[in-house]
Amino acid sequence: MHSIHKNNIDLKSSFIFKLNYQKFKLKTMSQKAAFIDQLSLPAISAPMFLISGPELVIECCKNGIVGTFPALNQRSSEGFEEWLIQIKTELKQWEEETGKKAAPFGVNIVVHPTNPRVEADVKLCVKHQVPLVITSLGAVQMVVDAIHSYGGLVFHDVIKKRHAQKAAEAGVDGLILVAAGAGGHAGTINPMTLVAEIKTFFDKTIILSGCISNGRDIASAMQMGAHLAYMGTRFINTKESLAPTAYKDMIEDSGASDVTYTKAISGVHANFLSKSLAAAGLTEEDLAKDQKIDFGKEMDTEAKAWKTIWSAGQGVASIEDTLPVADLVTKLKTEFKSAIEEQAKLLETFPKD
Ligand SMILES: Cc1cc2nc3c(=O)[nH]c(=O)nc-3n(C[C@H](O)[C@H](O)[C@H](O)COP(=O)(O)O)c2cc1C
Repeated sequence: MHSIHKNNIDLKSSFIFKLNYQKFKLKTMSQKAAFIDQLSLPAISAPMFLISGPELVIECCKNGIVGTFPALNQRSSEGFEEWLIQIKTELKQWEEETGKKAAPFGVNIVVHPTNPRVEADVKLCVKHQVPLVITSLGAVQMVVDAIHSYGGLVFHDVIKKRHAQKAAEAGVDGLILVAAGAGGHAGTINPMTLVAEIKTFFDKTIILSGCISNGRDIASAMQMGAHLAYMGTRFINTKESLAPTAYKDMIEDSGASDVTYTKAISGVHANFLSKSLAAAGLTEEDLAKDQKIDFGKEMDTEAKAWKTIWSAGQGVASIEDTLPVADLVTKLKTEFKSAIEEQAKLLETFPKD
């Protein structure tokens, strides 16, 4: 009796030990997505409306970073499926030819009642087992469950804590923190604060977005506590992006002060190249408006507006060239390595007793 009791206590205490150990492991071990360690750099080429197509995605994946595109860059779900097939086929063929493993690719889906394609596009992601789905606006558990059903991952895009908490409740695998100065619909919060605040309650993958333009910036994002860097504007200036040459030239010729944050174009705050706003004849008064400008027939759709008025983040300040993706990734790797090495040298001097 005594020994059974003792055994029970032993069992109980070893169970408690195991539980505590598990908790400890969960807290100390990173919850980051497993694929990250297989990448050549901890980076994602972010999805960009009218900019990212299959060529950009394929080149990124071949070079070991995640390539992504918005489903809405194709006018229909049928067109979207064609791109999925093209990307999968070309990457598979490349893997067979080279014996190398391509990085996973991702698709951005706007989960909002104004997007009538959500259901059809999510079904296509399930059918083609898209490795990474990036949701924006709505973080819906149904979408998360559908993508998890085949082992896919869902990262959700947020600009503030409240949205991050909702997405965490929906079970997303990663949060993309869109900080101040980012291209597209940017946030206003400083990246250091945003990462620190979200990390207090979210211990899965943290992806930082906003003005990450070179390898040193990627290293800085890791230093702040992110697992992955999410780079948009830098990838507009690649040979494979769908942006016209004049757009790429304007990015090379712009500094941080040549980017305007306004609600007037989409009804939601976003960053645009000031020179493209001026070229479209928009005045400071127009841009200060707190609601979307009625452009009339000329720019009656979001696509027409974004074709004429070019979005980019403050990261334009450190973009001075347009490169093929392969060369850009090589450059980013060199810059990343030297930034980390340079920083490690600080340990020879700091901290002092
Ligand atoms: C021209 C442009 C179009 C964008 N379109 C989308 C989009 O369709 N869906 C999306 O989730 N994010 C979109 N973004 C945001 C990017 O995915 C990313 O969050 C942002 O570009 C990161 O900041 P950075 O440009 O400073 O690197 C867009 C950004 C730009 C510059």
